Amino acid sequence: MRYITLGSREASVIGLGAWQIGTRYWGWGTEFGPDNVSALLEAARDAGINLIDTAEIYGQGESERQLGYHIPPDDEHFLIASKASPWHLTASGIRRAADNSLQRLQRTSMHLYQVHFPNIVIPLSRTMAGMRTLQSETKISHVGVSNFSLARWQRAERALGAPVITNQVDYSLLRPRAFTALRPMLDDGHVMIAYSPMAMGLLSGKYNTEQHPTGSRLQLPAFSGRNYENVRRVLDVMESIAKNHTAMVSQIALAWVIAHPNVMAIPGAKSPEQVRQNAAAADIQLSESEVTALDEVASTYKPALHVPRPFEVAKWLVNRDKTCADDQ
Ligand SMILES: NC(=O)c1ccc[n+]([C@@H]2O[C@H](COP(=O)([O-])OP(=O)(O)OC[C@H]3O[C@@H](n4cnc5c(N)ncnc54)[C@H](OP(=O)(O)O)[C@@H]3O)[C@@H](O)[C@H]2O)c1
Repeated sequence: MRYITLGSREASVIGLGAWQIGTRYWGWGTEFGPDNVSALLEAARDAGINLIDTAEIYGQGESERQLGYHIPPDDEHFLIASKASPWHLTASGIRRAADNSLQRLQRTSMHLYQVHFPNIVIPLSRTMAGMRTLQSETKISHVGVSNFSLARWQRAERALGAPVITNQVDYSLLRPRAFTALRPMLDDGHVMIAYSPMAMGLLSGKYNTEQHPTGSRLQLPAFSGRNYENVRRVLDVMESIAKNHTAMVSQIALAWVIAHPNVMAIPGAKSPEQVRQNAAAADIQLSESEVTALDEVASTYKPALHVPRPFEVAKWLVNRDKTCADDQ
């Protein structure tokens, strides 16, 4: 495993995304459940993964509750990063949200506390005033943001009056723009955390017109029939590079993300095997020409325009009501 400075600690360049834990959208309760969490965390620990990303919204708190149940409060290995929802971004709101997260996590502090999404109605000065208080009370070590543009990240830092050390954004071979956009801010004190680095499983290469994912991903345009052709062009390049490294395509997806300086990835996983495979991607050293080939194919990827048919919309609405009851 390779490590990167994340504030006062070194964090693994491959972390563990914990949206899956506690979230029905990802098959929690049907494909995997509470009995599997300890094995997932042990696989992460054994592979050198130490950053775990969660959020108050994941499974309506269940992700944090599961982590709190399985990770002892005095555990020195794992760095917990959680996020405040956009409707909790007033100074008092964010403090209450952090207290509630810490209670579910069964700990007195967390390493990183992130603003999950911007809220254009609540001034950043109020949010960051709350963050300052949380830092002075040592409930959080560091402040981060998520889904912020470069300009908004810079404004957040000015409002905090101290480093906002991370910005967590959608970044993968199918969403390759964020690195260039955020690059001016990236340095040894500012890290981009890539979420959905395997495009929610699409870049594992296991899904196609015959093999569909389970759960609500089916309703996403990226997983629609016609889009697989476009993804295939990216996968073809990934497959030939994977052969050079005797690696899996999913590992090439991650190796490309973390080949960028000051970038780490937090793939989600539902089994210890996936955790181990993802962690091993940190040891893959892509050559410059391989990175260029991947950059090139990523820049030509265009998602298929998906116009949902009426029955798909109806199905989506039914599913949305079901999943919104449990998840984000
Ligand atoms: N800040 C935000 O707004 C935001 C948004 C989204 C996610 N996130 C965070 O980022 C994390 C990761 O993003 P994500 O879960 O959306 O997408 P992802 O990491 O790209 O994909 C995760 C999914 O890919 C499949 N997978 C994982 N490892 C695999 C392997 N080795 N081989 C084959 N398939 C594998 C698994 O699903 P299947 O096996 O079912 O295919 C897994 O659930 C989340 O857990 C969350 O912590 C943050």
